[in-house]
Amino acid sequence: MTGGTGGVRVLGVAGSPRRHGNSESLLESSLLAAEDLGATVDRLIVAEEGIAPCRGCNACSLTGACVVSDRMSEIYPRLDAADAIIVASPVYFATVPAVLKALYDRCQPYWARRYLLHRPVVRRRPGALLLVGGGRDPYGHECAVSTTRSVFAVLGVDYSDGFFVQADADPRTNVSQEALERAARVGAEVVGEAVARR
Ligand SMILES: Cc1cc2nc3c(=O)[nH]c(=O)nc-3n(C[C@H](O)[C@H](O)[C@H](O)COP(=O)(O)O)c2cc1C
Repeated sequence: MTGGTGGVRVLGVAGSPRRHGNSESLLESSLLAAEDLGATVDRLIVAEEGIAPCRGCNACSLTGACVVSDRMSEIYPRLDAADAIIVASPVYFATVPAVLKALYDRCQPYWARRYLLHRPVVRRRPGALLLVGGGRDPYGHECAVSTTRSVFAVLGVDYSDGFFVQADADPRTNVSQEALERAARVGAEVVGEAVARR
């Protein structure tokens, strides 16, 4: 552990519906690097949370809070507590999988609080996106980046780093050592950025 990074809280968001696959491997590499620097890591496996979709009821436009009753009530404080957020996701039809999109859509209360209720963003923190795709889709992965950046914006998260790598679903995990090392560097850089903002 290196002095100066203690107390930095990194939220790692695993966005794939399958466990221990390519994107989660990248995430784990980045989070281990963050832990090596002394950060406290919170691992959020969205596929295990059963997050319901946003209903579009717009109740949050009036109150700033979501009325859907599920585990998001425990996830909102985890999002708020993070000094940095690293999302890892496969590309599904050029964007993120439904389990992660459900989490993203349930961030609508942050948008409502900021733009309708004019409550200021409490603080800004760094964030990164680690993306994996099979790479044969001609429509690319830019939608996944845009969607994530859109959510980061309402969370007060600055998109500071990230990358896309190609890896097939079969065999189960086949991201390269180079990609794992790159993910580790992202984890370290995000922690460094969070420390610099304290
Ligand atoms: C439903 C589905 C849709 C996919 N769509 C794309 C796509 O649009 N572009 C792409 O590059 N890869 C696509 N893939 C491939 C996955 O992104 C790839 O296998 C990835 O490595 C899986 O990551 P994971 O192991 O973290 O789940 C798709 C896979 C599935 C199951």
